[in-house]
Amino acid sequence: MSSLQAIRDALQQSPDNPSLLLLYGRACLEQLHLDEARGAFERVLEIDPAHADAQIGIARVHYLEGDTSGAAVRAERVLQLEPGNAQAHLLLSRVYLSENDRARAVEHFDLAAQADGSVHDPALENELGRTARDARRSSPAPAMPEPPGVPDSGEENEAAQGFFDDSFDEPPYDWRPETFFAPGDPQRFSTTFADVGGMDELKEEIRLKIIYPLQYPDLYKAYGRSTGGGILIYGPPGCGKTLLLRAVAGEVPCNYLSVGLHEIFDPYFGGTEGNLHQIFETARANAPCVLVFDDVDSLAQDRRSVRESQMRNLVNQFLHEMDGMRDNQRVLVIGATNQPWQLDPAFRRPGRFDQAIFVRPPDDAARAQIIVLQARDKPISNLDVPALVEATAGFSGADIEWVFGRAAEMTLSAAIHSGHAVPIPMELLLTVARSHTPSTQNWFDGMRDHATQAAPDGFFNEVRKYLNAPSTKER
Ligand SMILES: Nc1ncnc2c1ncn2[C@@H]1O[C@H](COP(=O)(O)OP(=O)(O)OP(=O)(O)O)[C@@H](O)[C@H]1O
Ligand SMILES: [Mg+2]
Repeated sequence: MSSLQAIRDALQQSPDNPSLLLLYGRACLEQLHLDEARGAFERVLEIDPAHADAQIGIARVHYLEGDTSGAAVRAERVLQLEPGNAQAHLLLSRVYLSENDRARAVEHFDLAAQADGSVHDPALENELGRTARDARRSSPAPAMPEPPGVPDSGEENEAAQGFFDDSFDEPPYDWRPETFFAPGDPQRFSTTFADVGGMDELKEEIRLKIIYPLQYPDLYKAYGRSTGGGILIYGPPGCGKTLLLRAVAGEVPCNYLSVGLHEIFDPYFGGTEGNLHQIFETARANAPCVLVFDDVDSLAQDRRSVRESQMRNLVNQFLHEMDGMRDNQRVLVIGATNQPWQLDPAFRRPGRFDQAIFVRPPDDAARAQIIVLQARDKPISNLDVPALVEATAGFSGADIEWVFGRAAEMTLSAAIHSGHAVPIPMELLLTVARSHTPSTQNWFDGMRDHATQAAPDGFFNEVRKYLNAPSTKER
């Protein structure tokens, strides 16, 4: 059944429902059933003569029929009732464009974009050669609320102020931090290092870079060491990189800012770079701060393999922001990726991600920890950790999680059929584990080549050692 038919059926049950009538009118407009559309909008106006959306609907019908003056009259009427109505301005922009009055078309387009931040009309933008973002930036944008935990004044702020003299010091972009934890925020403690099995070296590295300097500032000063910098963590999928990044929030006694990539990307030209800049600005203004980019490869791709100039600009911007870290060392940037070879080599220069830590599949001790963590909230009969450690050699943490999930599912299904709830049998866990192939193998096959070709500078020597290949410096 078509959606139009579905709305018709619904209208039979509820013929005077304005929302349904509007929905129907718009669906008819899309399919150019102009008479039916007009009928629906007029019915809404009979019920509510001042209904702006129905007026706009009729104005669109006029416009599509080629009656531009009829459309303009209706749209102006809406603006008299609601001066900031973005849809009315958009329609007027189209009307003026069809009459070759470009200046007024742009004027109304800008008013629409400024009135409603979500306005997006690619066809009109294309014809005007102007995006809604351009339009918004030509007007004073609303001020960004102060990020939580911004110090009132002090050296952190001064260090951040005026550091960047580039084009991004104009009105703030749309970006807002999604995950920002100030030091005492109770939510941040839901995951800590105790929830992450293994990775002791990495945990210690993070302590050295950000936790100890805050605990022992005088000691650090005496040895001429400072906080912050850039750490890249890389390794096969499912080995706990994302989990560790979450746990960092529960460990560090300072501000924590984690950025989802969906928060940064912006379809408008220059918007993504602007958002990225805004993120670094927020981190600097809230120093000391840990700034986290999970799956960083999608932001920091090798420029040689990127076709679109937009992506290259983004990488340049990222490099530029990382350079700013040298002068403001109280921000620790942590990036995580399972495709380290995709990263632009420029990120590996000193002062940027100058330290790479390989997150390997968990060794025996780490697997034992992960097994205990996985078992802690499940009924299991006679858990035999050493036997499971042996049966899961080469497994990632995610593989182990899968084994427990699969065994639980099978036990549950048996319980439903027999009517008796029983604990997960240890034998079943072993059987499931022995039948599973570790998911990390393909990653290592690929990494073996990349470790030398993509990083002849020895950046990936840790993984080469793990693979028993000579490190690039030794060769
Ligand atoms: N070291 C670990 N300790 C405890 N649990 C782990 C560990 N490693 C992985 N896990 C489990 O596996 C799941 C997947 O891990 P996570 O998402 O952190 O992997 P990842 O390394 O980020 O993978 P990807 O490269 O695909 O992003 C976690 O939610 C966790 O349950
Ligand atoms: Mg991850």
